[in-house]
Amino acid sequence: MSTIDLRSDTVTRPTPAMREAMAKAEVGDDVYGEDPTVNRLQASAAELLGKEAALLVPSGTMGNQAAIHALVRPGDEVLVGDGAHLVRYESGAAAALSGVQVQQLGDGGLFDGDDVRAATNPSDPHYATTRLVAVENTHNRAGGRIFPLKQIESIAEAARELGLHLHLDGARLFNAVVATGTPAAVWAAPFDTVTFCLSKGLGAPVGSVVCGSAETIARVHRARKRLGGGMRQAGILAAAGLHALEHHVERLAQDHENARRLCAGLERLGFRMGPSPETNMVLFEVSEPARFGEALRERDVWINPFRPGLFRAVTHLDVSREQIDDALARIAEIVEDGVR
Ligand SMILES: Cc1ncc(COP(=O)(O)O)c(C=O)c1O
Repeated sequence: MSTIDLRSDTVTRPTPAMREAMAKAEVGDDVYGEDPTVNRLQASAAELLGKEAALLVPSGTMGNQAAIHALVRPGDEVLVGDGAHLVRYESGAAAALSGVQVQQLGDGGLFDGDDVRAATNPSDPHYATTRLVAVENTHNRAGGRIFPLKQIESIAEAARELGLHLHLDGARLFNAVVATGTPAAVWAAPFDTVTFCLSKGLGAPVGSVVCGSAETIARVHRARKRLGGGMRQAGILAAAGLHALEHHVERLAQDHENARRLCAGLERLGFRMGPSPETNMVLFEVSEPARFGEALRERDVWINPFRPGLFRAVTHLDVSREQIDDALARIAEIVEDGVR
């Protein structure tokens, strides 16, 4: 029985064609700015997102934190959606590395311009200076939800009124692009900085890119240095990223279809489902999480518990439609044994 790994879209392995592109990559020392493949990736990413400049970083976490570092001062406050990755899963980095405090807004990750207006501190020495608003799209903890463009526009309007910077954690921005047909540059337009990950649905082994104006990216570059993120012959990684942007964007639609198929199948098996999948994540309720988790492992289906009583399955490049059906058949056996 082969393993069906639905824990995350980060578990993909580079395809043979991607490995070939990596092996053939022309490289140089990127700390000297001399790696032609990194430079090509950065130029392509900037163009795709409609920004002046871009910078390759080792991870989405570093992309978020280097962007925050570039945009704030110690003691400032950052506003983010409830459960955002950069506050929940980045080891307190915004506080530890940039000295900011974070206020979470809204419910389920989404919020709008009025939430920003209500949360922004008055200019008064009692309060931290509200400096930055961060949006996550798609929103991981909300189950891969797409942040509605209208809401982003209302946040951008409030940010302009209040003089706040805007950062987009677009770890899975291309899932939103493919699901909606709205180009990446439209999603990115209102933001000072945008990160997207090459190593999630796009299937590259390592890497994220931060995009913004030339001046902002120069500051992000300094922050990357400070965080130890300068890499040398990183063209090997950039080649994987370029390959991903060329060959793995449109196919995200297949992951979204597989997520809908998995959701429908689980519903037929009697599970209470979370919100209908908008992209590549499926949330479902489990009444006996410990027994259910153990039974999944016994049948070599890997799905992570996500919140108490809730599991999250993620579809990706290394899971086919047939494997989704196979996973559903194995889960059906668990349900027949009286565990759900
Ligand atoms: C929304 C979001 N942002 C940022 C990250 C961080 O990416 P990395 O694991 O490359 O640090 C993740 C990782 O899953 C994520 O889901």
